Amino acid sequence: MGSNSRILLYFGVAVVFLIVGITVRLPQILEGPAPEASSTINLGGPFELVDHKGNTITNEDIQGTYSLIYFGYTYCPDVCPTGLQTATLALESIPMRKSNKVIPLFITIDPERDTPEVMAEYVKHFHPSMVGLTGSEEQISEAAAGYRVYYKKVEEGDAQSEDYLMDHSAFQYLMSPEGKYLTHFSHDVTADEMAEQLKKYVR
Ligand code: NI
Repeated sequence: MGSNSRILLYFGVAVVFLIVGITVRLPQILEGPAPEASSTINLGGPFELVDHKGNTITNEDIQGTYSLIYFGYTYCPDVCPTGLQTATLALESIPMRKSNKVIPLFITIDPERDTPEVMAEYVKHFHPSMVGLTGSEEQISEAAAGYRVYYKKVEEGDAQSEDYLMDHSAFQYLMSPEGKYLTHFSHDVTADEMAEQLKKYVR
């Protein structure tokens, strides 16, 4: 090989690397900077819970990944299934390089009935990466307090009945890989609206 063709070869290789590099980074370059985590809204904090496989999970275990957090209960007639379905559809509609960075967490506010086994059956109906979390009454109330989630057993009729309902707030929280509050979604958010926000925040 002559020295000219060698230079041409090196040049060609350099151009290929440059094109590949730009193409890979292009989505990030076009998106501009990600919105910052809120420094004024202080939600979240430490928790220790049990996942639907029976493992202990703390806030430290989800460091390094975004989390989409929803508090509810599996016996919920329609509010929770709707919210979790919205999260599932939103995650399915954004690029996989983004959805792979988000763990949807479903934390029960009804640990009395929502055992890890019940949670395991339930989360199967939603996004494959969804993690169901339960725990003792104390563990749940501590986690819920961190997110200022309201919940209360609805007392009516037979107090012994297993068919009780739970009142609960139905926000979903998007948390950063550092565990900081990014944004939240109210119950009436559509999957498209949630997907737009997820695309904006998740990098
Ligand atoms: Ni519910």
